[in-house]
Amino acid sequence: MPITVRDIRAFKERGERFTMLTAYDAHSARLLDEAGIPLILVGDTLGMVMLGFDSTVPVTMDQMLHHTAAVRRGATNAFVIGDMPFMSYQSSIEDGMVNAGRFLKEAGASSVKLEGGGRTTELVHRLTEAGIPVMGHLGLTPQSVNQIGGYRVQGRTDEQAHRILEDAKDLEAAGIFSLVLEAVPSSLARQVTASLSVPTIGIGAGPDCDGQVLVWHDFLGITDGKPPKFVKRYAELGDEIRTAASTFAAEVAAGEYPGPEHSYE
Ligand code: KIV
Repeated sequence: MPITVRDIRAFKERGERFTMLTAYDAHSARLLDEAGIPLILVGDTLGMVMLGFDSTVPVTMDQMLHHTAAVRRGATNAFVIGDMPFMSYQSSIEDGMVNAGRFLKEAGASSVKLEGGGRTTELVHRLTEAGIPVMGHLGLTPQSVNQIGGYRVQGRTDEQAHRILEDAKDLEAAGIFSLVLEAVPSSLARQVTASLSVPTIGIGAGPDCDGQVLVWHDFLGITDGKPPKFVKRYAELGDEIRTAASTFAAEVAAGEYPGPEHSYE
């Protein structure tokens, strides 16, 4: 049965921890669906892990819609969330309404995600009133990397922590069905999680969120370099891909592939 916002709220009501993973194409989405992952986020991390940008800032609506539609075609049961890219909702409520609608109408997403509190809250209210489920995102909000001055843990000072907690409550009042908390101290994530009736989904936010999310390339060990502290690699596919590619090249060079079993009579 396809997952709905009611199921997602019920996870928290039952105290059942759940998972979300990112995906950007149909086949990956199908694999996650078959594994029973209930939520698939088509994150704007797309820009970094798929398109080679060094931040999420350059990602466009067209790119997000293209990949969200592919994920929707691959996932039968999972709840698919389209991540609204930088400047698709910050410019005005009207832009935010139109662009969020495009995720549902053109790409078949079940909901949208948007970053930040404050002025975003009014947009969340308008979207949910219009029937568009919204996932919030607080803590480290990568679309504001230029404003924040780097990818840093947020909410370490009392003032920052208070702001995040208040923003979380305001977003809940405005109608979000869940909230991503990124790169915040575990104690703050615990406090936010206990204060909300909608589920929190942590990434670098410690063990007490209602759910956890990881980015496809991180959890499968495809990214190079030292991953952030919160990442656990559940596979080492980067190594496997390199080994497979060099084995292929060596076998072709040696005349071993294709063999008779791979050739037509
Ligand atoms: O864009 C993304 O993949 C995200 C996750 C890191 C939560 O927002």
